[in-house]
Amino acid sequence: MAYSYTIEMPPIDSPTTTDAGLPKIPLSDLSFERLTANRDTLSFFCAHQELIDYLTVDALKNQDAHVAVTYLAIYKGKCVGYFSLLNDSIIKKDIDPEDDKDWYTYSYYPAIKIARFATHQEYEGRGVGRAMLTVIRSIATTVSKYSGCCVLTVDAKPDAESFYDKFGFHRALKTKRKNTIPMYRCNIF
Ligand SMILES: CC(C)(COP(=O)(O)OP(=O)(O)OC[C@H]1O[C@@H](n2cnc3c(N)ncnc32)[C@H](O)[C@@H]1OP(=O)(O)O)[C@@H](O)C(=O)NCCC(=O)NCCS
Repeated sequence: MAYSYTIEMPPIDSPTTTDAGLPKIPLSDLSFERLTANRDTLSFFCAHQELIDYLTVDALKNQDAHVAVTYLAIYKGKCVGYFSLLNDSIIKKDIDPEDDKDWYTYSYYPAIKIARFATHQEYEGRGVGRAMLTVIRSIATTVSKYSGCCVLTVDAKPDAESFYDKFGFHRALKTKRKNTIPMYRCNIF
């Protein structure tokens, strides 16, 4: 069956300069593409070696196996950020009663998981992370037209918790992990 979809980009309202006076990169100056073997990712660098290794070693393998899809944020021809997505679910007991739908009688909500998420260290603080979250919401909106999904999930690294918090993610109420913090965002559309 032939099918196609376009990613709808909602407008975003973000400041125009960083604290250091560097210009923020507007969403319109970034392009997003699905990872391919043709794109050089070896120059990607960030504080977590594991996130570099994932992009340069594992991402394409996982994508070919339909386990996770990786998208690159491109600015002036360079990969300045990336994220990987996969299908997920979140158990109701992890969701704040305020976010829970009382008519929904199943135990789990269908979700999309942000499995990896990183900005190139040289471009941190310039709006790339914000733009990537905007695109993720847009992808989730599109996917939800084909297959149910109404929550975003992420296992946040402790130093990224306040970043996700800023963008409406909450800690999962019950599930605990050792090195990461399970978080979710219900209001994605
Ligand atoms: C966390 C990370 C993705 C943020 O990306 P970024 O491109 O620097 O974020 P942005 O520039 O888009 O920032 C958007 C807003 O979030 C804020 N922000 C960025 N990082 C933050 C953090 N760690 N805590 C709190 N707020 C943060 C910015 O100040 C900015 O606020 P503003 O729009 O009001 O000025 C990036 O620092 C990173 O890749 N870190 C290393 C890898 C990592 O931890 N990934 C998350 C794995 S779960």
